[in-house]
Amino acid sequence: MKILAFESTCDETAAAIVEDGRKILTDQINSQADLHAVYGGVVPEIASRCHVESISILAQRAIEAAGIEKKDIDAVAVSYAPGLIGAVLVGVNFAKSAALALGVPLIPVHHIRGHIAANYLAYPELEPPFLCLAISGGNTLLVDVRDYTDMKIIGATRDDAAGECFDKTARVLDLPYPGGKRIDELSQGGDDTKYHFPIAHVDGNPYDMSFSGLKTAVINLVHNSQQKGEEIDRASLAASFTKAVSDSLVPRTMMAAKELGYKKVVVAGGVAANSRIRADFKAACDKNGLEMFVPPLKLCGDNGAMIGAQAYYEYLAGTRAGSDLNAYATMDL
Ligand code: KG4
Repeated sequence: MKILAFESTCDETAAAIVEDGRKILTDQINSQADLHAVYGGVVPEIASRCHVESISILAQRAIEAAGIEKKDIDAVAVSYAPGLIGAVLVGVNFAKSAALALGVPLIPVHHIRGHIAANYLAYPELEPPFLCLAISGGNTLLVDVRDYTDMKIIGATRDDAAGECFDKTARVLDLPYPGGKRIDELSQGGDDTKYHFPIAHVDGNPYDMSFSGLKTAVINLVHNSQQKGEEIDRASLAASFTKAVSDSLVPRTMMAAKELGYKKVVVAGGVAANSRIRADFKAACDKNGLEMFVPPLKLCGDNGAMIGAQAYYEYLAGTRAGSDLNAYATMDL
């Protein structure tokens, strides 16, 4: 089954064609990151307008690159929540029209379910159940993935998402948006013990996390140093900051895997591209006898293929959208 899938929830427009949930025939992406970099973050209206400009071009390009014809498309899928509402609306409206024009079913896909499904593309043998840590620019969730379409959030950030914390830290260090990758590069060779940052423990649910205190600690450290005219060891700050994020994520995930009895741990989302976090997860999984899955770098960030992968399983579960499908800024998993 060939699914034409669209993603437009933030600053990447993407159109992909995925076969049977596991095989990428093409994955066309137009990143707007350079457009937003001058503003230091995503400007929602610019994002929406850029999606409008590029989505039909990407759809056409996807069909050509996959070497198929329009009549070969069996369904259309779209990431319909959560995200920047004006941006999501562009993908939803285009996908509805495409499904209508092609006369095929329309499948709505939750963006974070898509991130999780990126792993199905990378690991043909991976099947639920497993535990997943989804870490992106807007979400930080520990998810009990019981089946392809049956999942439950067992922990979440109470405030900022991990990716947001990377981006704010990058901004205070005058690194261009999107900052996560820049922090990753800067931290190479830094001393992760040089600066001590707080790792928040949240009352109540042991799997919940918090990153706003860490963000504030970094901002205060940088501002205090500037006021005193002291030079910051930027590489070590980036390394110490990344260690603090990783130390918030990895032990919690290991604890949850143990308590839920999972042997498979999946990491997903843009922040899963971080080299330190990947290495720490690998080491912790090896130590605890767990199998670790993390997508290749190009499937960590937003892409259309992950939406096409999840859409296949949503389709099998009977999920369909009508032509009244709407976009949602927030939505439960
Ligand atoms: O999954 P994603 O592309 O978009 C959302 O669905 O939110 O994630 C984007 C986030 C941004 O905050 C970006 O800075 C972060 O992922 N990111 C990284 C790295 N690459 C991207 N964070 C840390 N290290 C990286 N190498």
